[in-house]
Amino acid sequence: MTPQVIPSILSANFANLLADIRKMEQAGARTLHVDVMDGHFVPNMTIGPPVLRAIRDCTKLDLDVHLMITNPEQMIPAFAEAGANWISVQYESAAHLDRLLHLIEDHGAKPAIALNPHTPVLLLEETLHLCHHVLIMSVNPGFGGQKFISTSFQKVRKLRDLIRFRDLDVKIEIDGGIGPENTAEAVRSGVNLLVAGSAIFRSQRPEDVFRQMQKTAEEAEEFKHNDALPL
Ligand code: DX5
Ligand code: ZN
Repeated sequence: MTPQVIPSILSANFANLLADIRKMEQAGARTLHVDVMDGHFVPNMTIGPPVLRAIRDCTKLDLDVHLMITNPEQMIPAFAEAGANWISVQYESAAHLDRLLHLIEDHGAKPAIALNPHTPVLLLEETLHLCHHVLIMSVNPGFGGQKFISTSFQKVRKLRDLIRFRDLDVKIEIDGGIGPENTAEAVRSGVNLLVAGSAIFRSQRPEDVFRQMQKTAEEAEEFKHNDALPL
């Protein structure tokens, strides 16, 4: 599949979010990443369903909602009804993960599991087939602008092999410390969905950074296939 760069609005201008969303639409983004933090699961707070609804009402882009909250089961229906297209729950926040994934699906959104840096991909053995994608956190969740954890691509490759071995159609998303400098390596490791916040929105020209990353990602994907051709 063509890889997708997904802007994370966590680093956008919340006082003028619409302007940043329009920039991303014009640059060709297809999806926006929306980080939901509750001040419990992570030491930071962001937005809830009313703000998601306001975003939904002003854009047709897919909304990729990343729940970094305790008791996600209590909030999933509200986020789905507010217009989330994809909902990821943190593995570490879920006591009944299978039930949560079905709950997301029953509310019309695509389910995903997010893994903290310390959580091994092998723990997905029994739930991988229920996921639209798996989100590999490449920083400890809670803040934008953190340093990429260097072992994350190794983890992506393990997940890629697990998905291939099981012959599943599950996408791999990476989130945290992603920018133009590691986009190609991410795609070569098997990432399909690249979330980027500060690299895009804390730059002078967010549209240009988005376009550059998207182009780099597509070229890396193309190269991957060329590379795979027999000599
Ligand atoms: C962090 C969030 C990320 C954040 C990434 O907890 O899940 O989505 O926006 O920000 P950058 O791209 O700046 O690392
Ligand atoms: Zn996120």
